[in-house]
Amino acid sequence: MKVLGIETSCDETGIALVDSEEGLLAHALYSQIALHADYGGVVPELASRDHIRKTVPLIREVLSAAGKDLSALSGIAYTAGPGLVGALLVGASIARSLAWSLNIPAIGVHHMEGHLLMPLLENGSITPPFMALLVSGGHTLLVEVQALGSYRILGQSLDDAVGEAFDKTAKLLGLGYPGGPALAKLAERGQPDRFHFPRPMTDRPGLDFSFSGLKTFAMNTILKNTSAENPDIQNSLDEQTRADIAQAFEQAVVDTLVLKCRRALQLTGLNHLIVAGGVGANLRLRERLNALAKASNVQVDFPSVEFCTDNGAMIAHAGMLRLHAGQADNLTIRATPRWQLDGLSPI
Ligand code: KG4
Ligand code: ZN
Repeated sequence: MKVLGIETSCDETGIALVDSEEGLLAHALYSQIALHADYGGVVPELASRDHIRKTVPLIREVLSAAGKDLSALSGIAYTAGPGLVGALLVGASIARSLAWSLNIPAIGVHHMEGHLLMPLLENGSITPPFMALLVSGGHTLLVEVQALGSYRILGQSLDDAVGEAFDKTAKLLGLGYPGGPALAKLAERGQPDRFHFPRPMTDRPGLDFSFSGLKTFAMNTILKNTSAENPDIQNSLDEQTRADIAQAFEQAVVDTLVLKCRRALQLTGLNHLIVAGGVGANLRLRERLNALAKASNVQVDFPSVEFCTDNGAMIAHAGMLRLHAGQADNLTIRATPRWQLDGLSPI
C-alpha cells in the first residue's frame, strides 16, 4: 500500500510517499528557518501561512519524484498533534479533503510516534520490545515500547525540553535559531574542563529530566566572564570562551541523557535503545550512546541524521502502519495541539 505523509506541526513542511513493501519512495522538506530567523523563534501565524503556500506544491513534487500520481495512493497520513494548532490545521485540512476527494482513508498521526517509529522505516529488522529516547524541541521522553502503539512513559522533562534548552542557551551565546546545530558546531572548538555544568537530577533515583537550570547556569557563566564595562554581553565574550561554554553545556546535556538511558535499560532489563527526534542528530550524543552500546552489550539505533529532525517520511510511515492494521479516522479534521503519547491505541 502507498501512503502519503504530511507533516506541518511546526516550522517544517514535510511530505513523503512510502510503500508498505518498498519503503520510502520519495520525500521533500521545506524549512521555514529563514522566515522566523529575525524573530529568534517560530511565529505561529507566519508558520501556518507558509504551510498553506508550500504543502500542495510539495505533494506534487513528491509524487512526480516517485513517478506516481494521486490514483496510486491507498491512504493519507497527517500530523494531528502535538504542535501549533494553526500549522496542524493546514496539514489536516489538506490531507482530509484530498483523501475524501480520492475516496481513500486518512489518519491523524501523533508527531512523537512518528519520530519514535522512524528508525523502523530505515531498518526493518527493529522490533519491540525496546526503550526509546525521544529528544526534540518540545519533548524529552524515555518510553518503554512493549508493542507498537503501546507506550509507557518512564521519564520526561519537568521543564524545558532538551532541544529547547539547546535553543535557549544558543540564543544566550548569540547564535541564531534553531540553536541546537549551531551550538553543537561551536562546541567542537571548545576546550574540555574549563567550565563544569551540573548534570541535573542525576544524583537522585528516577528517570525524569530538568534542563531549565542549565540555561540559567549558562547565563551566570557568561556574566562571570563578561567585562563589566561592556553592556553587550554576547559580543564581549571572546570566541574561545563562547566555544568553551557551548562545549561544557553540551557535555552536561549528553552526560545526563546517557546516564538516564543506562538507568532506564537497567531498570527494565531491556537491551535495545532507539533514539529519535531533532537532538538525536547531535553527534556527541550519538558517539556516547554508541560507546554505551559497545560497553554494555546493548543495541542502539538512530535514524539517519537527516530523519532525526521533522520530516514527512516519519508521518507517512507511522500512518501506514496504522492504516495497514485497518485503523483509519472518520471524516473529522483532527488538530490536537496537546496530545499524550501514552494514550494511543495499539497498532
Ligand atoms: O524533532 P525536531 O525537528 O522538532 C520538534 O519536534 O521539536 O527537533 C528540533 C530540535 C531543536 O530544538 C533543535 O535545536 C534541535 O532539535 N537540534 C539539535 C541538533 N539538531 C537539531 N540539538 C543539538 N544538536 C543538534 N545537532
Ligand atoms: Zn519533531
